[in-house]
Amino acid sequence: MPRIGLIGGTGIYNPRLMEETREITEMTPFGEARVVIGKNDGQEVAFITRHGVKHNVPPHLVNYRANIMALKQLGVEIIIATAAVGSLHLDRRPGEYVLADQFLDFTKTRKTSFFEGGDQPVVHCDMTVPYCPFVRQAIEEAGQEIGLKIHNGGTYVCTEGPRFETAAEINMFKMLGGNLVGMTSVPEVCLARELGICYANISIITNHAAGISPHILTHSEVVQVMKNSLHDVRYLMMESLKYLDGPRNCACSGIPQQGGLSES
Ligand code: HPA
Repeated sequence: MPRIGLIGGTGIYNPRLMEETREITEMTPFGEARVVIGKNDGQEVAFITRHGVKHNVPPHLVNYRANIMALKQLGVEIIIATAAVGSLHLDRRPGEYVLADQFLDFTKTRKTSFFEGGDQPVVHCDMTVPYCPFVRQAIEEAGQEIGLKIHNGGTYVCTEGPRFETAAEINMFKMLGGNLVGMTSVPEVCLARELGICYANISIITNHAAGISPHILTHSEVVQVMKNSLHDVRYLMMESLKYLDGPRNCACSGIPQQGGLSES
């Protein structure tokens, strides 16, 4: 059973570096997900490419619930996800890596929970520490070992997309304390928490965000920087696995809080 799940964002459409790979379609109550299962150093790992192998699923139409539920059904306890992001600061540059530790949610239309009322309980998940500190530390240590510059901590602003932001939006996000802007980490991280799965995000800075950059943004710019980072990101994900052996030293697997009113 794979204990670790990898979710590849823009530019990462196959896991490489895994052996004995097989592809499955995992059915879930929320739809199906295509998962590649393989081995790394004898350890089973599951891989999902978020935008599809042909990059034809835009951020607002990703079936986040099917992806996360599929990994849960397969036995995954820890998810490492990658995401291309824009940087809100000139001193955090394209090609650098950031492990987000907080998010600001500016998405609009997404299914953000597995629990939808009716026969199901009302669930309010604690989200004080959304990204697992244990997994972030493992990635940081792996990065040090292979000589990658990684910033451990940063607030990821998640927008609905698929358009890029206006300069005024980026200015507002900066004033609110945002450091990075991307389109996918929410609701992925929230859904993982609802199922007690540890989740960490490796943000790859592909550009300076709108208005920070002196020029207009293009998707091809994002893709080009991702291409240059591809080898390092894959290597980083795989090296991190070594540091994730042993019991999870965090609170992520705690049962979500259930709310609701009862008369006493
Ligand atoms: N904004 C939103 N998403 C992104 C960006 C950006 O500047 N770069 C890569 N993904």
